[in-house]
Amino acid sequence: MPALSTPSRYTITAALPYTNGPIHIGHLAGVYVPADIYSRFLRGVGRDVLFVCGSDEHGVAISMKAKKEGISPKEVIDKYHQMIDQSFQDFGIAFDHYSRTSGATHHQTAADFFQKLHSEEKFIAETTPQLYDPEAQQFLADRFVTGTCPKCSFEEAYGDQCESCGTSLNATELIQPKSTLSGATPILKDTKHWFLPLDQYEDFLKEWILEGHKKDWKPNVYGQCKSWIDDGLKPRAVTRDLDWGIPVPVEGGAGKVLYVWFDAPIGYISASKEWGEKNGKDWAPYWKDSDSKLVHFIGKDNIVFHCIIFPSMLKAHGDYILPDNVPANEFLNLEGQKLSTSKNWAVWLHEYLLDFPNLQDVLRYTLTANAPESKDNDFTWKDFQARNNNELVAIFGNFINRATVLTHKYYQGSVPAPNDLSTEDTLTLEKLKEFPDIIAASIEKYRFREASTELMNVARLGNKYLADQEPWKLIKTDPDRVQTIMYVGLQIAAALSVLSKPFLPFTASKLETALHTEALHLSWNSVSDSKPLLAAGHVISEPKLLFRKIEDAEISAQLEKLEQTKKTNEKMNATLAPQKETTSFEDFSKLDLRTGTIIAAEKMPKAKKLLVLQVQTGLDIRTIVSGIAEHFNPEDIVGKQVTVLINLAPRVLRGVESQGMILMTEDSQGSLVFVNPDQSGVADGSVIS
Ligand code: 2FM
Ligand code: ZN
Repeated sequence: MPALSTPSRYTITAALPYTNGPIHIGHLAGVYVPADIYSRFLRGVGRDVLFVCGSDEHGVAISMKAKKEGISPKEVIDKYHQMIDQSFQDFGIAFDHYSRTSGATHHQTAADFFQKLHSEEKFIAETTPQLYDPEAQQFLADRFVTGTCPKCSFEEAYGDQCESCGTSLNATELIQPKSTLSGATPILKDTKHWFLPLDQYEDFLKEWILEGHKKDWKPNVYGQCKSWIDDGLKPRAVTRDLDWGIPVPVEGGAGKVLYVWFDAPIGYISASKEWGEKNGKDWAPYWKDSDSKLVHFIGKDNIVFHCIIFPSMLKAHGDYILPDNVPANEFLNLEGQKLSTSKNWAVWLHEYLLDFPNLQDVLRYTLTANAPESKDNDFTWKDFQARNNNELVAIFGNFINRATVLTHKYYQGSVPAPNDLSTEDTLTLEKLKEFPDIIAASIEKYRFREASTELMNVARLGNKYLADQEPWKLIKTDPDRVQTIMYVGLQIAAALSVLSKPFLPFTASKLETALHTEALHLSWNSVSDSKPLLAAGHVISEPKLLFRKIEDAEISAQLEKLEQTKKTNEKMNATLAPQKETTSFEDFSKLDLRTGTIIAAEKMPKAKKLLVLQVQTGLDIRTIVSGIAEHFNPEDIVGKQVTVLINLAPRVLRGVESQGMILMTEDSQGSLVFVNPDQSGVADGSVIS
């Protein structure tokens, strides 16, 4: 083995997925597959490992999904938690514990964490103006508000983060903010919140990251951290005015909850506690002993939270260790386009498992061989098919098949005794013994692509050896030599059953059955031992194919599915009305548009769609009949400032004369919203031009 650093134990975390949708290949390639390979490898070399994850069930992402689906947040999280948990299990992601942040242990752990920091005066409590949606009548933070990123000018940055440049933002920094609830332009309204003064942690972060982790953190992670620290850190609100989340457990906290990014990473600790309770183990050393190595597997959009904010929280708390590494990956695209949950542009794990039953390892292998480790990468179905047919089937599967079939044909499944080893045999066995170290070194450096290439090189070694030695030609003329060849070949097959475990766990287990090595408990290190992995006389099972070819029709079906998604998306985009014919300035000037305020509203008797409004136009109070009754309750719109076309020719609707028109538009969810002035105290009757 290479000089592995030898911590007493490993605490490995994988980003808690939001329970607002199922898992897709981007999540798998970025986080869960590498984390699982790392954990399985460490367990395989005998390390003490705790690998935790869980559902991230708070925050605006969940509230928004609930609103969109017309169900409660609890219904949303229950539905997706169950689905995600099941698909991880079916895919073979071997967490020691998969938790959820809506659980009692987590609520208590997060509240205690907050309380400790509060009582030790680690927060600044301040009343500051925050964005408020006057229509939805609620404060806007995080994903409830979008706007232009002050750093990179991306127009759809969220209130807490720009997903384009990764900058962590305060909602008030957004340029031209817009409520995602109503489309309204937010106003500023005072509210009290607790802030973690990140500026006070700058020296600590400089020393810990910029000096301490320059060499061992990935350049993309280190670079992002350096840029945030160099830009100067600001206090960051860790509470929110929302009704979904963990209640703020201190005086003055009524009606407020912890910011989801405050509670979610504490979820790793809560999950560890639950694991301890369930298994009668002590969770504390995994988080408190300086000899434990904490590693966070995340996607690049989570870097700031795991490298700057959570470590500052841990530092402020004082009882916990800091992460040793945060091997964040870049993003995976699908067929040249950004993966998108809302546009359904994804390969969903639960659907993959149905479409390709028992082919978990093929996806694991493809996502690892093509992992977005140092730059964004593309998943294509053609590449998936090629990786399977040309590598797993043609190299790995072909070698194992040859070795096991010939052993049965020549020796009824019994490993033959070798005769004198040729130079070629010795070199091959020597080469084989190097692989555990080579693969381990790549995994230790979080280079899983490289590691999986080396795994395939073991199979290549076996294939080349058999192809060069041609036992099928020698069996008649030199059976003694064939015994040696098959003996060497079977050692390579047994090595594959061990070394493939972290990457291809289902295959490794099939291979163990095929070679009948379950009871031998072959370890990673045993591949490098002088003792053979399979002794002469050991009997292997009947050969079965490890992999199957993936047919063109299966790939076409997946591409067709994506084509349908594209068409659906195009149809949805096509619902945007095309630009109307050009109009002259003179014609436009004829329209008299004013700001006005709805001062009374009632339903038009016996008309489902109509409301009768009294509108203060500044010039007069007039009656306007508006077809919005299915979208608004009369009492909710009284007091709203709106845009009114006041010189529209009067029309009589159901016996009531309508003397104008209120301007409306639709938000992204297709709900009607008022086109209203800028909320900055424009008087009724002001001309809009
Ligand atoms: O980006 C996300 O999907 C978050 N739910 C990740 C949370 S990781 C952790 F800190 F909980
Ligand atoms: Zn940006």
